[in-house]
Amino acid sequence: MLRVQRASQINGTVRVPGDKSISHRAVMFGALAEGTTSIEGFLPGADCLSTISCFRKMGIEIEQDKDRVTVHGQGWYGLQEPSQHLDVGNSGTTIRLMAGILATQPFHSVMEGDESIAKRPMRRVIGPLRQMGAKIDGRKDGEYTPLSIRGGELQGISYQSPVASAQIKSAILLAGMQANGVTSVTEPHLSRDHTERMLQAFGVKLVRDGLTVSIEGGQKLKGRAIQVPGDISSAAYMIAAVMMVPGSSLLIENVGINPSRTGILDVVDRMGGKIERINERVVNEEPVADLLVTYSELQGIEISGDIIPRLIDEIPVIAVMATQAGGRTVIKDAEELKVKETDRIATVVSELSKLGAKIIATEDGMIIEGPTPLKGAVIDSFGDHRIGMAMAIAGLAAEGETLIENDDAILVSFPGFPDVLQSISK
Ligand code: S3P
Repeated sequence: MLRVQRASQINGTVRVPGDKSISHRAVMFGALAEGTTSIEGFLPGADCLSTISCFRKMGIEIEQDKDRVTVHGQGWYGLQEPSQHLDVGNSGTTIRLMAGILATQPFHSVMEGDESIAKRPMRRVIGPLRQMGAKIDGRKDGEYTPLSIRGGELQGISYQSPVASAQIKSAILLAGMQANGVTSVTEPHLSRDHTERMLQAFGVKLVRDGLTVSIEGGQKLKGRAIQVPGDISSAAYMIAAVMMVPGSSLLIENVGINPSRTGILDVVDRMGGKIERINERVVNEEPVADLLVTYSELQGIEISGDIIPRLIDEIPVIAVMATQAGGRTVIKDAEELKVKETDRIATVVSELSKLGAKIIATEDGMIIEGPTPLKGAVIDSFGDHRIGMAMAIAGLAAEGETLIENDDAILVSFPGFPDVLQSISK
């Protein structure tokens, strides 16, 4: 159980763990590349450790010591047929991206995960992979795990994705890497583009044209050194902590500021908060900066449309900030929240209500009225890391003590979160 007390001030200098999306991709691409890939700043969270364990089960040698990882890549077809099921744990990124990789492999494999994974939709990825010629099955005609994949020769397709999802886009592009001809994916809004950037860093050629990415089959990856920046999705909790406690300020060093991820910075800016980007630089095709965050009184706003995929994982903590903002915050076009680790519309609304927030669920988001004084309560993370952390941040502004049950889930993306929070709270 995580205990959080009301804070009178947040300040100091912190670093957050490595980016989850980039850490997964560095291991996957390293395993498929020719030669060695050394990773610094890797996120040793449960999700990324699941990715490592899956590749080890396919014969790839991977050394990991905290945030340093060395992957001994054997080339795209250097994977061996796994003799056991591949356990993806809680990780949607692992199962969906691996589905694209396994669809190209000349062997049979089975992927499964935890209770949450068993409820998450997979046909959004399996459908287009089947169109390319992959033989994939799962419960309810491939909608749910376990997924059984018999890979082989694939044909390139032009796929119009109905949702802006980096996991769908990446799975198809990875399958397209070994398909005949060209594979292209078009999405309705731009989702995070770490796959595109990192494939290019590994020597792959792809073409980006607006919302379409195209890749030619038969390409090779070349192992290299990767430095992973801090995860802006983890920094979001620290930013929100500052905005919850008047008089606070914080320097967050080494944060990835890829424009497909910076919706949180734009939202805080529009709400009236102050975040200065210092020492901007580019590391392995990814923009990075230090963020100097200063408290200001926030105002409610509407958040909808193109920005949603740029902040999808930050919506729980944005809802928390909105409880302390003046007026109404409306979050729309975010039905994807329903198929994350939990139904995050339902879990954010139920848990914030326990703390006394004025929040209601809508079909595609939520509406929050503020500012509202919060009162400590017993909260459930429901096994969802982002719900656990968002509610801990709410606890910083709540009277008395807030208790978070099932806080182990936080290890999925932010090991050390309670210590970091403690170190910046007064
Ligand atoms: C991720 C993509 C996002 C995000 C998830 C990580 C990725 O999901 O929610 O936490 O690493 O590709 P979408 O597939 O909905 O974009």
